[in-house]
Amino acid sequence: MAPLTTPTECRGTMHWYQGNNGHCSHKSLISDVILYFLIYTSVMLQADTHSCGHIVPKPREVVHNVHLGEPAHVVKRRSLDQQLRIHLVYDSGLSNLPQEKETLVKDVLIPTAVSYWERTLQVRRTAHPVKLLRSCQSDYIRFKDGDPYPYCVRNCSEVTKCGPVIVPERYLEACRIARIGSKYKKVGYGGPGVTNADFVLFVSATHEERCTVGSAVAYAAYCQLEGALDRPVAGYVNLCPNDISTEPHNLHQMHATLKHEILHALGFSSGLYAFFRDPHGEPYTQRSPSTGKPDFNSETELYQWSDKVVREVTRYNWRVRGANITRTFSLLVTPRVVEEVRKHFACPTLEGAELENQGTLGTALTHWEKRVFENEAMTGSFTQHPVISRITLALMEDTGWYRANYAYAEELTWGRGLGCDFVKLSCLEWMQTRAASGAPIYPFCDRVRSSPIRTECSPNLDSVAVCNLVEYHTELPSMYQNFRELPFVDPKEVSHYGGLVQLADYCPFVQAFNWQKEDSGERGTKCSVHQNNADPEINFALEHYGDNSMCFLHHTAWSLHHCDTTRDITHWGSGCYMYRCSVVDGLVVIVSGKEYYCHHRGQILEVHSIQNDWLHQGSIVCPSCHDTCEVSLPL
Ligand SMILES: *[C@@H]1O[C@H](CO)[C@@H](O)[C@H](O)[C@H]1NC(C)=O
Ligand SMILES: *[C@@H]1O[C@H](CO)[C@@H](O)[C@H](O)[C@H]1NC(C)=O
Ligand SMILES: [Zn+2]
Repeated sequence: MAPLTTPTECRGTMHWYQGNNGHCSHKSLISDVILYFLIYTSVMLQADTHSCGHIVPKPREVVHNVHLGEPAHVVKRRSLDQQLRIHLVYDSGLSNLPQEKETLVKDVLIPTAVSYWERTLQVRRTAHPVKLLRSCQSDYIRFKDGDPYPYCVRNCSEVTKCGPVIVPERYLEACRIARIGSKYKKVGYGGPGVTNADFVLFVSATHEERCTVGSAVAYAAYCQLEGALDRPVAGYVNLCPNDISTEPHNLHQMHATLKHEILHALGFSSGLYAFFRDPHGEPYTQRSPSTGKPDFNSETELYQWSDKVVREVTRYNWRVRGANITRTFSLLVTPRVVEEVRKHFACPTLEGAELENQGTLGTALTHWEKRVFENEAMTGSFTQHPVISRITLALMEDTGWYRANYAYAEELTWGRGLGCDFVKLSCLEWMQTRAASGAPIYPFCDRVRSSPIRTECSPNLDSVAVCNLVEYHTELPSMYQNFRELPFVDPKEVSHYGGLVQLADYCPFVQAFNWQKEDSGERGTKCSVHQNNADPEINFALEHYGDNSMCFLHHTAWSLHHCDTTRDITHWGSGCYMYRCSVVDGLVVIVSGKEYYCHHRGQILEVHSIQNDWLHQGSIVCPSCHDTCEVSLPL
């Protein structure tokens, strides 16, 4: 392998580059290229695989009328100024987890999620320690003589459970037994309960049947509500042992999952909509005089809410492939939620926030609609970059039980400012009308996922992403056929094409993903994660992952040159690059240490750089400065 020493021996387009030392070596990259495609052949997109496991508890699993020492008229007058205090009770079964998982749950995941909600929410101050009611062998009765405690008709149950957890005695009220039609009352001994707490959260990690359904990582629900205003005062979160991941690249998702699940226990659940109250503490939904509760709808197995909370809205001429249909949506219409969604989407006529229509019990109606709210953390499945937005905090305020600190809301960019057409029309119509007027069809996309993968950038530019439009084996349900035509697709087959995320009504959108290695390892695509850097020998597009990196689109395919060898890189489209914003220079992209200046949106930066004797050639497209420097990151 003698080095070639004279320029004439380097031919073709390569004549002007001979390697660092002026020599051409016969070093070949071909094996590396093959290796690259062998290693990172498949792309892992999170679709509905990680959907939420919350199931609305059955009425017999929920205890009402926990007495916190004061009558409703006193509690109602109180302002919501007590920072939420969550008392944690770890189930003994947690110690059966492998040490690493137990530590992660107890020291990292639960404390982080709990402290987020403690910081973000405030409740009314209470006078009494929280003591939970015992479950009964049969029914509860209450006396009209002002005794605030419910009594068990036959006897108390041997144990009281909150979800899968047996509530320890110290958290329980005395066992109270009374007989119908007699003055018989018997009161046993109870535990001390918990002082300085507003909510008791039982944390367990048992492999329950529900863990095997839909691969839920964790699930949670409330189990006891207090008597004055029905606020949940106890709940549980169960983590599915096999799905607890200690991998660093899954940590963000684990955190988001727990924040999400705990919110179901605190109030975001269709089982509680009928118990929501207005700012004066008055129920939105009428109560039955006999039970003091809203009516129970045995068909939906939910307490029936008033249309002041959730309302059905019909949209006519909902355009899908080959038809204009009529669709009815369930919208959450409480005042603060309405105000926030109107502001977010810039749609002053929006009736409310659309709720998820798909999924099994516990997904439908209990989450924001995925098509409309994509990466909002309270949608029904995990796709990418989950955020708790102002809209979710508004919902927590509209329960009547909380005040929220909006400083802790996270920024939702999906759909922001896109107007009524975006929230009120089908994604087919949105894509059609936008395309017809020459506007981008963002946040949707229509590039069919193919091999080699052509990548894009996630909407907030924090990750390399792909359009999740795929071909299905069968036709999609007609209401979810979102394309009339697609480039390079036989018109007869178009009905098989749709987004990978079913909960988003199969509307396709750009989504961050993980590269899947053949040997089961994964490499993420989030620009800020240093571990996502590829090995230098396969870093063809000279990407850089780490702090101050962001996703940029490529203009052309990258190529590598060494003497008379040229390699065109078939995988391209976007990459993560370091950048900085400066008042003088605007947006500056830094590739392999060299600075490139963006003067206007759409400008093409031609990049050539020599790395390990190879010339890398490619181009990067300047995004709008508004999307990058002014909005997402300060100087
Ligand atoms: C209730 O059950 C307990 C055991 O769980 C028993 O000791 C007690 O006698 C029972 N009380 C009544 C009134 O039946
Ligand atoms: C649906 O409605 C639009 C506008 O009202 C119309 O242009 C289109 O032809 C209709 N499509 C079908 C399939 O009826
Ligand atoms: Zn959920």
